[in-house]
Formats: sequence, structure tokens, C-alpha cells
Amino acid sequence: MQRSRILILWNQLDDDVYTHFRRDGRRAPDWDPTLQIEPWETGEEEMQLIQRSLEEHGHTVTMVNVRDNFDTMLDAIRTTKPDVVMNLVEFFRDDAELEHDVPALYELLGVEYTGNRPLALSLCQKKPQAKALLAAHGLPVPRGVVIESIDAAANLDLEFPIIVKPAFDDASGGIDAGSVVHDRSSLIARIDKMLHEHKQAALVEEYIEGREIHCAILGDRPLPLYEMQFKGGNDEHGKPLPKIITYRAKWDPYSREHHAVQGVCPVPDLDPALARTIEDVAMRAYRALGCRDYARVDMRVDSRTNQPYILEVNPNPDLAESCAFNASAKAAGLTYAQMICEIVDLAIARKAGPKKVVTGVDALLKEYLAKKQG
Ligand SMILES: Nc1ncnc2c1ncn2[C@@H]1O[C@H](COP(=O)(O)OP(=O)(O)OP(=O)(O)O)[C@@H](O)[C@H]1O
Ligand SMILES: [Mg+2]
Repeated sequence: MQRSRILILWNQLDDDVYTHFRRDGRRAPDWDPTLQIEPWETGEEEMQLIQRSLEEHGHTVTMVNVRDNFDTMLDAIRTTKPDVVMNLVEFFRDDAELEHDVPALYELLGVEYTGNRPLALSLCQKKPQAKALLAAHGLPVPRGVVIESIDAAANLDLEFPIIVKPAFDDASGGIDAGSVVHDRSSLIARIDKMLHEHKQAALVEEYIEGREIHCAILGDRPLPLYEMQFKGGNDEHGKPLPKIITYRAKWDPYSREHHAVQGVCPVPDLDPALARTIEDVAMRAYRALGCRDYARVDMRVDSRTNQPYILEVNPNPDLAESCAFNASAKAAGLTYAQMICEIVDLAIARKAGPKKVVTGVDALLKEYLAKKQG
């Protein structure tokens, strides 16, 4: 195994949501005092564990929180002169759209780094564009359309139930129990809310009733599938909880929605042929969007047809020990440290490998110039 100089870069300005929950102490949600909420790891603890994992494998590691400061980031790279940057920066100046500019800097500096390149990061973030590209590759995505004004909602050719999501958000922002609608008037009301309250175009999609399965990909292989199971139950007003991952399900451990979803890996009772199809769809989606190193493809499997539909490709899934990506790695027999080191090894191998494959137009241009000069 090659021992390298690794620089872990991440970006966090204020205390994260986990630090706040930690400060509250271990307490039960109001609606069920018998439940005890475990404090999750903070962003900083997550980074420290990644650092220890790499050090245990013999790497020399520096970890820098760039704190939204471009000079800090540049100085860290210039002073540590890393063989590889482990890139865990997810936004800049509070703007997730700047995420893809960070690896662009590594590219310009000629520094090797882990994870996805700027184009894949940017494309996956723009769900409508990503889905158009996936569809062009013949991959299954839910039928849907982007609505930018309420007039455009008049002639929608989609079947109910329908889900209304923000077209360009992530982390389930703007997704709540009312996002799935079953009739026209609720649809119009929901689109109106998205346009005027959330101030975003709406991505309006046919709702896929069925199991939600996520496929983590490491290097060039799918890891064991992970299911997000929905336990059902009612909210505090007695309304059934939706079978979707809402914002509260994801971020509020005191909410009923959070406790109504449970991740399971490996997926129980899944027909092996269907599992292979899901993995195949995920791998093809990963390649179609130009991903490398690691990603997670989230899908729903239509309960009537068994057809998996791609909801999104996450090019920077959370690598925390408690998260889905690691659950899949663990089910594949990898320790946490082995998973982290494998990601870094992919970047180390790239650095050691041939510099640039010249293809297509580059090759033609080279040929032309060679002829001209020769
Ligand atoms: N077409 C659909 N059919 C069924 N469920 C859907 C559909 N689209 C979204 N969902 C549900 O809503 C959740 C969030 O949707 P989506 O993944 O598109 O949003 P997100 O904000 O990008 O979340 P993430 O945090 O994963 O980036 C999904 O995990 C799924 O439960
Ligand atoms: Mg999602």
C-alpha cells in the first residue's frame, strides 16, 4: 500500500445541526417520551474519524476547515503540498451552486483529489437537466416537467398521484407531507406555494408508488443495496405520514416523520434478478452523468411493474459512519477505514497513472498540427 500526504478539506462556518442537538442533550420528543434520541456525530467529529482512518493506514494527514475562506483553502494546498486532497467541501459562501467550483480550483492547480469532477457535481445538482440526460441514455426516470409559472400548470399531461418538488434544491428542502397530491386543485395550490413561498421553479413528477432503494457505488462497483423503509403511522393531526423522505424526516430527529423512516441494508426480500436490474440501472446512471470514485443513486421501484426509476444521483453522498453509504460499505465487508482509504486510493492511482488520455477533437487537432509541422 502506498503511503501518501493527504489534505482533507471541508467547509463549515457555524455550529451544525448535530452540534445543536448535542447541546440540547439527550431528550425524548414531546409526542413520545419513551423514545430517546441519540445525539449524532458533529461535522467535526466526522472529519476527525476520516483523518484517523487514513492515519491508521499510514498516510500523513492534515485536516483543514476552510471556513468559507478562499485564501485559507489556497494556503492549505500550497503549504502542505498534498499528493491528494480529500475533497469534502459541499458549498462555498453558503451557496451549494459553488460546490463544483472547488474541484475546478484543484484542476487548475494540478492537484489530484477525491470524488467527482466539476461537471458531474454541477449536473447532478440540476435534477431536471440530469434527468433529461439520463432519459436520453434510455434510463428510467419518472415522467415530469419543470413549471416556472402557474399558467404552465394548466395543461399537464401527467398521471396522479403527483409529487411537487423544488427544481433546484437538495437535501429534501421544500419537501413535506403535502408534496404528494392526488387531485388538480391540490396540485395547483402546491405549485403556487413552490413558486411564491419557496421562490423556486417546481419539478412536477409522477409519484412512483413502491419501495425506495439506494445504490451506493464505490469505484466501479455497486455496493449492497440499501432500502429506506416507511413505517406508516399518523402525524400529530391524525393524518397518515407520507411514504417519502421529507425535510423533517431527514433533519429533525424529534419529528414523527424522522421516526417513520428506517434505513435497512442489505435489502430484505428482494428478488435477486430485480436487485441486479437495480444495480445495472444505477451503474449506467453513474456513467451517464460522468461520475467517478463514489456516488449514490436513489431509486423507487414501481410496485406494479417492478421497474426501478431514478430519483437522483448524489455525487457527494454523506460519508459519515452513521450514514447510508457506510452501511452499504459495511454490508460489502469493508470497515469504515477501508472504505475511506479505498476512495483515497482511487485518487492516488489516478495521480500515478498516465496523465491525460487524448481523445476525440484533441487527437484530431494533434494529428493536424503534426502534419502541418512535419
Ligand atoms: N417521483 C417520485 N416518486 C416517489 N417518491 C419521490 C419522487 N420524487 C421524490 N420522491 C421522494 O422524495 C424524496 C426526496 O426527493 P429527492 O431525492 O428528489 O429530493 P432531494 O431534496 O434531492 O433529497 P436529497 O437530500 O437526497 O438530495 C425521495 O427520497 C423520495 O422519498
Ligand atoms: Mg434525494
